Amino acid sequence: MEWTVRCHGQPDHTGYLVSITPIDAAVRAWARTWHGPVESIGCMHSLAASCAGAALPPLAGLSLRVSPQHIYHWEPSMPERLHVQVSFEFSASHRLALPDCSDAENHALFGKCSNPNGHGHNYRLDVTVATNPAVPNAVGTLEAVVDREVMSRLDHKHLNLDCPEFAGLNPSVEHIALVCRNLLQAPLRGAGLPLVCVTVWETAKTCATVQAAG
Ligand code: NI
Repeated sequence: MEWTVRCHGQPDHTGYLVSITPIDAAVRAWARTWHGPVESIGCMHSLAASCAGAALPPLAGLSLRVSPQHIYHWEPSMPERLHVQVSFEFSASHRLALPDCSDAENHALFGKCSNPNGHGHNYRLDVTVATNPAVPNAVGTLEAVVDREVMSRLDHKHLNLDCPEFAGLNPSVEHIALVCRNLLQAPLRGAGLPLVCVTVWETAKTCATVQAAG
C-alpha cells in the first residue's frame, strides 16, 4: 500500500513548499490510529484532517495505491467523491496512415509508424470512475465492463484491419483513448460507476487522456 499526499502553494525563501519530513511524519502518525477500511471516503477525510492538523500547506489531493493495478484518488475540492483508477493491458497492432495519402506521403507524416504491414504495442489502459456506495464491488464491476467492452474488441487485434471502431479513424494513441472512452462511458454509467477519464499508454513515455463526455 502506498500513499501519495499532494500539497499546493508557493515556495518560501528556502525554495521549499514543504519538506517531505512533516508529510511523512503526519501520514505515519495517522496510520497508527486508523483502523477502518482504507478504500473509503471516511479514510480520506481522516487523513486529510490529520494533514491539516500537522500544519502542512493546503492539501490538493490524496492517492492510495492498493496494488499495482488499483489506485484510489480523493480531492478536498470534491470531498464526497472517491475515484478509483484500474489499469489494464492489451496487445494490438496498428499502422498510422491517412487513407487519402500515398505510402510516401504517409511515411513523411508518420515515419516507420506507417510501415505498410503495421507493428505492435503493449498498451496500458487506465480507467478512472467515481465509486458508488450502491456498487460495493466497484473494481470487479469495472473489470467486467472493460473486459466486455474493450478487451474483447481490441486485445490481440490489428486495429486497422480487425476493428470497425477504427474504420476511417487513424489508430493513434489519442484516437485509441477516444474509442475506449466512447466504448466505456455508457456501459459504466449503466453499471452505476460514472466514468471520469481514460488514459491509454502506448509506450512508457507516450499517453493520451480523454475525459468523460459532459
Ligand atoms: Ni505504433
